[in-house]
Amino acid sequence: MAIDRVVSGMRPTGMLHLGHYNGVLKNWVTLQHELECLFFVADWHALTTHYDSPEIIENNVWDMVIDWLAAGVDPAQATIFIQSKVPEHAELFTLLSMITPLGWLERVPTYKDQQEKLSSKDLSTYGFLGYPLLQSADILIYKSTQVPVGEDQVPHIEFTREVARRFNHLYGKEVGFEERAEEAIKKLGSKKGQLYRELRTAYQEEGDDQALVSAKALIEEQQSLSLGDKERLLGFLEGGGKMILIEPEYKLAPASKMIGLDGQKMSKSYNNTISLREHPDEIEKKIRKMPTDPARIRRSDPGDPKKCPVWQLHEVYSDKKIKEWVENGCKNADIGCIECKQPVVDSISKELKPIQERALHYIDSPDLVKSVVAEGCEKARKIARDTMRDVKEVMGVNF
Ligand code: TRP
Ligand code: SF4
Repeated sequence: MAIDRVVSGMRPTGMLHLGHYNGVLKNWVTLQHELECLFFVADWHALTTHYDSPEIIENNVWDMVIDWLAAGVDPAQATIFIQSKVPEHAELFTLLSMITPLGWLERVPTYKDQQEKLSSKDLSTYGFLGYPLLQSADILIYKSTQVPVGEDQVPHIEFTREVARRFNHLYGKEVGFEERAEEAIKKLGSKKGQLYRELRTAYQEEGDDQALVSAKALIEEQQSLSLGDKERLLGFLEGGGKMILIEPEYKLAPASKMIGLDGQKMSKSYNNTISLREHPDEIEKKIRKMPTDPARIRRSDPGDPKKCPVWQLHEVYSDKKIKEWVENGCKNADIGCIECKQPVVDSISKELKPIQERALHYIDSPDLVKSVVAEGCEKARKIARDTMRDVKEVMGVNF
């Protein structure tokens, strides 16, 4: 079985903000201590939508790496690299494109959604249609088993699984695979062997998912069967052979939809963010301007935290005691909104202070940042090359 390996990427499209920090980076920082992790800057993916502003890419790439490091992603624990510096991603993308049905790409929901959302841009490009397949290459090239992503990315991971399955189906046959699978069925005995065949037919010919589940359970139960035979029976069941590419699972970040300054989700496109590099004075100014429960026109008007976006920041940033103070103070009009906002201002500034200090350190040492990335690229390339050798071998282009 494959080792657990985590891969995730981020597009360098602007300054990172608290939404990235709470939704993604904190999760990365935790994961890097638990599993082998590779984190990369998806600069080619940024070009799929920002092909008309190439001048922003480079600065964004370095700013992003600096923010990751400042947020606690540790190059001694995780491999940090840049997609375009590992050209094997593009090589796998090209080879996978040979077997990817056009309809699969057209049906990925983000394709039409994003075209509509970014209607000012012409996104009827080949690169944009291929976005999910490039992402598949990013993931499959590392044989990664887990991909931490946001909800919006789930269809891309599912798409990746389909691509991997199709690849294994087309190219994963070991020599004499079918005969060896038949041998293994005989070892099940006549009754169970018959049941296996029936379930396999039900799954392959009628798409009966329940039959697949039952057949897998049947295989797992066979204690006398060797591991190799079990794998053959599993592969034969699904119509595939050996697994060359690994089907990854997605791993949703622990739910934390960071609220923005206007009460919508924090996002650059809503212009409601606090960036990781935000000056403390600016943090204070921005939070002071936040809307509150509209019922609190005067300080003597009672309010309801549930109707106030500031409360949602307290949910992330305040302890029990402060939250009780807010709830009572708001409902009884004992505190003013400016007063109520202060602990949030303080907590955010406190959280960002060490991050900003580390960021300054890295901004002052561009060579250090470059060497971290160079080392990461080197490590990533080693794994990528190994996978490409296997892929090229079975696709007949390893000569
Ligand atoms: N599409 C992802 C996003 O917009 C970024 C990304 C590119 C990615 N390649 C990836 C994420 C591979 C995880 C794994 O967030
Ligand atoms: Fe919001 Fe606090 Fe004002 Fe209540 S007191 S409306 S929770 S800012």
